Amino acid sequence: MSERLKFPADFLWGAATAAYQIEGSPTADGRGRSIWDTFAHTPGRVRGGDTGDVAAEHYKEFRSDVALMAELGLPAYRFSVSWPRVQPGGSGPANQAGLDHYSRLVDELLAHGITPVLTLYHWDLPQELEDAGGWGNRDTAARFAEYAGLVAARLGDRVPMWTTLNEPWCAAFLGYASGEHAPGHTDPALALRAAHHLLLAHGQGTAALRSALPSSAEVSITLNLCAVMPGATSPEATDAVRRIDGLGNRLFLDPLFRGQYPVDVRRDTARLTDWSFVRDGDLDVISQPLDMLGINYYSPTLVDVGEPQAGPSPWPACEDVRFVHQPGPTTAMGWAIDAKGLRAVVHRVHEEYAPVPLMITENGAAFDDQLAADGVRDAERISYLRDHLAVVHEAIESGVDLRGYFVWSLLDNFEWAYGYSKRFGIVHVDYPTQRRVWKDSAYWYREVITTNGIDV
Ligand code: NOJ
Repeated sequence: MSERLKFPADFLWGAATAAYQIEGSPTADGRGRSIWDTFAHTPGRVRGGDTGDVAAEHYKEFRSDVALMAELGLPAYRFSVSWPRVQPGGSGPANQAGLDHYSRLVDELLAHGITPVLTLYHWDLPQELEDAGGWGNRDTAARFAEYAGLVAARLGDRVPMWTTLNEPWCAAFLGYASGEHAPGHTDPALALRAAHHLLLAHGQGTAALRSALPSSAEVSITLNLCAVMPGATSPEATDAVRRIDGLGNRLFLDPLFRGQYPVDVRRDTARLTDWSFVRDGDLDVISQPLDMLGINYYSPTLVDVGEPQAGPSPWPACEDVRFVHQPGPTTAMGWAIDAKGLRAVVHRVHEEYAPVPLMITENGAAFDDQLAADGVRDAERISYLRDHLAVVHEAIESGVDLRGYFVWSLLDNFEWAYGYSKRFGIVHVDYPTQRRVWKDSAYWYREVITTNGIDV
């Protein structure tokens, strides 16, 4: 006997994408280069030499993609604006042709009754800003605020929900410490500095949004929070949990919601940096009130300690920390499937920070989908989504103010360093023809949305 779980009447269902992962058209309408153009075109950086040059051709095909969203019954669509389309070199006046595109996209969404949920920064920093020091340069935060103001001035009359940054942990630590993401640096001290400047950009950007947007607009940030658990029963493993939780979660949550950096993280990383990049007043800017916190969750993190490892890692001062493989099923990314991690993350944020309503801005899974004559049978993805939605439902029932859920992703797309080898979409993209084919999960999700519930 299955049980039916109903969601609140005003629960917001959606799907998410990001500009560089789907748009293509890298030079259209005056777009400048971003760090991801440079990175993807550098041999050896992205699997198979893939780039975002063509991607899912969404820039050209946005009208038919919006029609697809409407057929799916999507009430909301989370997308990102490409900064180098708006400011090709990352500063100065807006490139109106670039903004025109997003204005058309927003109008098209609204014409189909779909709420636009806009992210300003999903990792595509204008290359010229990287050449001037990127997120290691404090001025990049001011540039971001200027960019935020330009987008808000143009789209603020029609976009009700705004997110400053997507997953600043990834931008800072994969981009500047492990080098797995653009711009590909391997300097842990620079990554900590970048993290601070990203948070400062969020704060200054929020102020710019507040002054340009109507008071009804909601402003948020999206964090990839980890459910860190010990991979062994030892004091060392417990301490590894503290350190990874510090860098992965509290390094962002504490300044945003408590106006301070965690003392233990500062201490753990003191041999790398004196943190003098934090100036008086920065934390006030960073901790100004938000309307919503976006959470992206995919998989739990199990940690232990072992022999110190040389070589670049995204975790500064954690050379001895080991990431332990959790037994059980995994996705095509090799990520353990365990919805309990989402429960842990949501309850932790609610109980310890609890300041604002929450939104799951990304959740989903890559599998090795096979396109058959009659579609794509992706039962594993359906089961992943159902299990995580059951946790969302349970959290709401237990009093967590969780307002919505966005599946990652609407379409198969450019999965960063993995290129097109990993497919997260609920809609399959046949890259040679750009044909969209609904996977079983897309039909299933449409049913979830129309009935506002799941059967478990
Ligand atoms: C989070 C990122 O925001 C998104 O760009 C990425 O594709 C998914 N995780 C899956 O890795």
